[in-house]
Amino acid sequence: MICVDSQTMTNTAVPTPSKIGPSLSLVDVAPLASLGQPRLEIRGGRPLAGEIRVSGAKNSALVLMAACLLTRDTLRLRNVPPLTDITGMGEILGALGVAVTRSGDSIELNGDHISKAAPPYELVNSLRASFFCIGPLVARMGMAQVPLPGGCQIGSRPVVEHVKGLKALGAQVTIEHGVVTAVVPGRSHRLTGGHIHLDCPSVGATETLMMAATLADGETTIDNAAQEPEVIDLARLLIAMGAKIRGAGSPTITIVGVERLHGADYAVIPDRIEAGTFLLAAAITRSVLRVAPVVPEHLGAVLTKLEEAGCRIEHDGLGVVIDAQRISAVDLRTQPFPGFPTDLQAPFMSLLATAEGTSMIVENIFENRLQHVAELQRMGASIRMQGNTAIIEGVACLSGAPVHGTDLRASAAMVLAGLAAEGTTTVRGLEFLDRGYADLEGKLNSVGAEIRRLHDEPTSLPLAA
Ligand code: UD1
Repeated sequence: MICVDSQTMTNTAVPTPSKIGPSLSLVDVAPLASLGQPRLEIRGGRPLAGEIRVSGAKNSALVLMAACLLTRDTLRLRNVPPLTDITGMGEILGALGVAVTRSGDSIELNGDHISKAAPPYELVNSLRASFFCIGPLVARMGMAQVPLPGGCQIGSRPVVEHVKGLKALGAQVTIEHGVVTAVVPGRSHRLTGGHIHLDCPSVGATETLMMAATLADGETTIDNAAQEPEVIDLARLLIAMGAKIRGAGSPTITIVGVERLHGADYAVIPDRIEAGTFLLAAAITRSVLRVAPVVPEHLGAVLTKLEEAGCRIEHDGLGVVIDAQRISAVDLRTQPFPGFPTDLQAPFMSLLATAEGTSMIVENIFENRLQHVAELQRMGASIRMQGNTAIIEGVACLSGAPVHGTDLRASAAMVLAGLAAEGTTTVRGLEFLDRGYADLEGKLNSVGAEIRRLHDEPTSLPLAA
């Protein structure tokens, strides 16, 4: 951000630099475990201008890739983002016998020779989205054995709804020694259509069950289904593969099973979370920026909150132009789509840390998704916590500091805060960032940011003289 008045800063959280050795000051000190890890060094206070390009949606691409297990034909996906999670999903599918060919932003997947219905634990453990394999595998092969994905930094993330739904479709499901085994009894090995009511509108459960039901015998309804754009994207792909699906994007989805699905050539939707992150980058630096391609309906709640905070938003063909001058406090609560997305809660908090007035953010989706608060406080943000609520008093300016991204979106929040902060911010935890943002620093630099990726940190502390 362009600082209004750095003299009025009431920053008590960030220590004043004081030398503790010949070449090391307190503000340079990082946890020992993170020394030697790559990091982003951001010089803050640069306004952004121009146009920034949004990649294909990570969360869509991951589940669309799993859909290749439903057919013997080739599935070609375009607009696939170059991310480590996509590489991981390719490896998991490869381990099951899928032929995976990547070229530019396209990926071809052929599941004609699936040799296994059990992805290996080592690969599954590092990528939660690998659990998507269970639905298509059990639908096509009559059985699947997938390790429980376990929790992650933001919460426990159960798969109870996925399992309940598979049982409603006739699978016998057992969980032993951390592995979920789903078997379709009988000679046909075919699931049977059924009625599923989800207790919560889980995105992953809706997608898993929609895929499983495409090859089931008869009609399936999923009530209280997730309505996220990624669910609609999956439905569109499945329909292009020959599936019969109605109602995706509404709370009730109906799927009439077919005998077989065929290949398809399909482009992934733009990443609404990446787009939202760029809009917030413009807002936090009080800049004018064009972000494209964007599907404005995918970002409805986010655009509304940005406007409420004082930004001017214009839709122009394939993109959105944001003009941010002054930012006022707003309150927001994360909700399932079409509510405000939990994935943009941390990045929006960085913006509100610089707003005029006091804002409130309530995190309703994940129980442990406010760890970035402590890191923002290290940059001078004034935030109080009450359970799952953060009360944010905007400060005139954040100050650069060494910080750690505690999960994917928290890392993005740190980068945004660094763009606005006075001085230099060093963001570690890039293994999270690289899972969900394709060349974030390159894209932001192309519109005026000053971010360097450094790999050459010493692995041991220099000795004091
Ligand atoms: C997906 C997204 C993730 C996003 C999240 C919520 C992908 C790959 N990931 O995750 O980026 O943050 O949606 O929009 O698409 N729940 C249960 N029982 C279940 C399943 C879920 O209680 O059986 C709860 C979860 O604990 C959480 C909430 O439902 O509180 C939402 O989870 P869910 O929609 O399943 O998220 P994911 O599909 O894992």
